[in-house]
Amino acid sequence: MSEIPGLIRGLEGVIAAPTAICDLDGINGRLAYCGYDIADLCQHSTFEEVVALLWNGELPDRTTREALHAGLLGARAIPPELVSALRLYPRGANSMAALRAAVAQLGLYDAESEAIDASSLRQIAIRLTAAMPTIVAAHQRIQNGQDPIAPRADLGHAANFLFMLSGKVPAPGDARALDVSLILYAEHEMNASSFAARVAASTLSDMYSAVTAGIATIKGPLHGGAGEAVMRTLEEIGTPENVEPFATAALAARRRFMGFGHRVYKNGDPRATILRAMADEATARTGDRKWFEMSIRLHEVVYREKRLHPNVDFYSASLFAALGIPAELNVPIITIARIAGWTAQLFEQYGDNRIFRPRAAYVGAPARAIAPSTATT
Ligand code: ACO
Repeated sequence: MSEIPGLIRGLEGVIAAPTAICDLDGINGRLAYCGYDIADLCQHSTFEEVVALLWNGELPDRTTREALHAGLLGARAIPPELVSALRLYPRGANSMAALRAAVAQLGLYDAESEAIDASSLRQIAIRLTAAMPTIVAAHQRIQNGQDPIAPRADLGHAANFLFMLSGKVPAPGDARALDVSLILYAEHEMNASSFAARVAASTLSDMYSAVTAGIATIKGPLHGGAGEAVMRTLEEIGTPENVEPFATAALAARRRFMGFGHRVYKNGDPRATILRAMADEATARTGDRKWFEMSIRLHEVVYREKRLHPNVDFYSASLFAALGIPAELNVPIITIARIAGWTAQLFEQYGDNRIFRPRAAYVGAPARAIAPSTATT
């Protein structure tokens, strides 16, 4: 198959669009949003400021920051009909399947949902960014037999999410750790889910449909789904002592370890370095270091045996666990961050559109006629 002229499996290396949003240097392990290095943004900015940066190309001044904050606050609550629908989702529903269904449903209650002019797209992006954390928290509580908790206007984006999950105002360190994680996950160039969202938008379908395509795509374990799979692997390994024997045997059996490897970063993912330090700090605070220490050991073994580096989803697993977040919410959390990047890319796509329509190389049966004996009519 690889000899087919023009076939590029997985579209590796193909440049599918120009973008002014994310600058990803896979060789040197550098990631920047609109020119700002990710490490600088993590140190000096909030998730809301990064949302403004991705949408506007500039870090916000005070007026812009306050206007965006007010817009997001005003859109945090979700329609009561959607809360009722969440109550009807089956017990044990996959958290990403529920988010996919709920975001599609959210669009039904937005009178502007079909509009794709720049100003409507901006309003829809605000609604999606604000409402998705509320959906995730409400679904989780309902699944646990609890009532959803209304958003609180005096808390920031990350702190409010943690509050809606547990009913407790988080410690400032925990809220900041989640906020920085959202920054790290907010955008990542032409990854599979951003591409899927852009493909849907390129047909001039609406933004809710494009974002639903993004959610459907980020859910898979080779993409954002790795965020939950990493914790499931740590649980399967069980103890720090079992990391070495488990990993060497699994690698010898050609098992793919979730949270390692990357299509673009070949010398390490800069987000993993930041998340490792954050997981170290957070687990030092809680005193429960088991998952983090197992992660370090697994990192050592996988690197030693396969020369593979951890990606963004590896250390976020032990960090999120230290924040008290159940593993089934790891991928929804990645998604409530990535909505910022998807919507920013959708502004670009709708603003300078050409439908995505690649070709396939036909490798099926040669042209043939239906034999009279097999004809059905
Ligand atoms: N564990 C073990 N081996 C791996 C891994 C892994 N995680 N990743 C790559 N490899 C090996 C492959 O087996 C292959 O080896 P081979 O040539 O001997 O068969 C080689 O490295 C190249 O792998 P590909 O699958 O061709 O790399 P590709 O660029 O297509 O895939 C991907 C990238 C999907 C991220 C891959 O590294 C992977 O499956 N990783 C695990 C899933 C994961 O963590 N995904 C999250 C990515 S980040 C994000 O989306 C948020």
